[in-house]
Amino acid sequence: MAQTTAPQPQQIGPKGMGPGFWPYTIALTVLNVIFALLILFAPLDFIMPGWSHPVTDRAADIDGLFKFMSVFGFAIFCYVAGYVAYFAIVFRRRPGEPAGTIGVVVHDAPKLEFWWTVIPSVLLVILTGLSIVVWYKIQFGTGAPALTMEVIGHQFYFEYRYPGLKGSVYSQTDAMHLPIGKPVRILITSADVIHQFWAPEIRLKAAAVPGLVQNLNFTPTAPGTFDVACSEYCGVDHSVMQGKLVIESADKFEKWLAAQKQRAAAGAHPIPLARGNAASGKALFAQKCSACHAIAPFDKKIVGPGLAKLTDDPQHPTLVTGKSPTRDHIAEILENGYTGPIGAMPNRQANGLSDQNIADLVAYLVSLK
Ligand code: CUA
Repeated sequence: MAQTTAPQPQQIGPKGMGPGFWPYTIALTVLNVIFALLILFAPLDFIMPGWSHPVTDRAADIDGLFKFMSVFGFAIFCYVAGYVAYFAIVFRRRPGEPAGTIGVVVHDAPKLEFWWTVIPSVLLVILTGLSIVVWYKIQFGTGAPALTMEVIGHQFYFEYRYPGLKGSVYSQTDAMHLPIGKPVRILITSADVIHQFWAPEIRLKAAAVPGLVQNLNFTPTAPGTFDVACSEYCGVDHSVMQGKLVIESADKFEKWLAAQKQRAAAGAHPIPLARGNAASGKALFAQKCSACHAIAPFDKKIVGPGLAKLTDDPQHPTLVTGKSPTRDHIAEILENGYTGPIGAMPNRQANGLSDQNIADLVAYLVSLK
């Protein structure tokens, strides 16, 4: 049998690590240092609100973890991707080199392998340790809380309960308030489906799960008005499940809470019906009410009765509550909802109606004659 001799592969190309390896390494290092300085010291609030001024102590902790991860994560990415690109270019196959030409053959570099295993491993262990400390502080706080409040998710609003306050604060009509400098514990749960309480500036979120109470512990450190949102899809109006968080001085907070208590003691606050806008009410009706109510005579029911002649219908001189069709009595139904022989309508919290919304809807309904 004739033996064919394959052409011996010859080792050619640049010697060692190639020309420019060390200057290139220095360039990568300079890039890393610049990136680290930007992450640690530049005001990058346009990337993440509250970057240069964390609004709670826990937000500062979370940002610390994020900065640690960014600086070392970028460095690892930078050296790995940087050297892949460098070696691919320096040791590329040159024009005219025969197929089968092999480049520099390297078998094992134990020292290098040791360090590229040990350094990332140590960084991960440090990150794990730091994360556990922050997680512990989120779960258990750093001392006895000065204020413990409750956040309850509902379709589609948040309910806030404060100690000593009879009744609740609702996200569609008021903001959640917290005092600066007081350790706060927020207990989070849900009354119906799974929601998620999220306030980006405080860098914390917690699932609101029926039957489960979750903890968030932190101390507000800077004033401002921030967004609160439900960040877990919970039904058709998930997107409107939003609110505001006001962080203010302890004095202002106490005043706000006292006003809430006074309001609760005086019963429901009167809705300024005179300020209703019929045009806004019409748009709102299409959005909130038209699935169940037609603008048609009483008997043209969808789920609830037609509302075109609410205030002017000899056949039905009273509302479903048996009361005369005045603005106040219409507002009452919008506010409290209705359950009776005709059916059931959810209350203002469930429908997500603010005082102004109710005034607008009343103005619209009264305008239909
Ligand atoms: Cu509640 Cu999404």
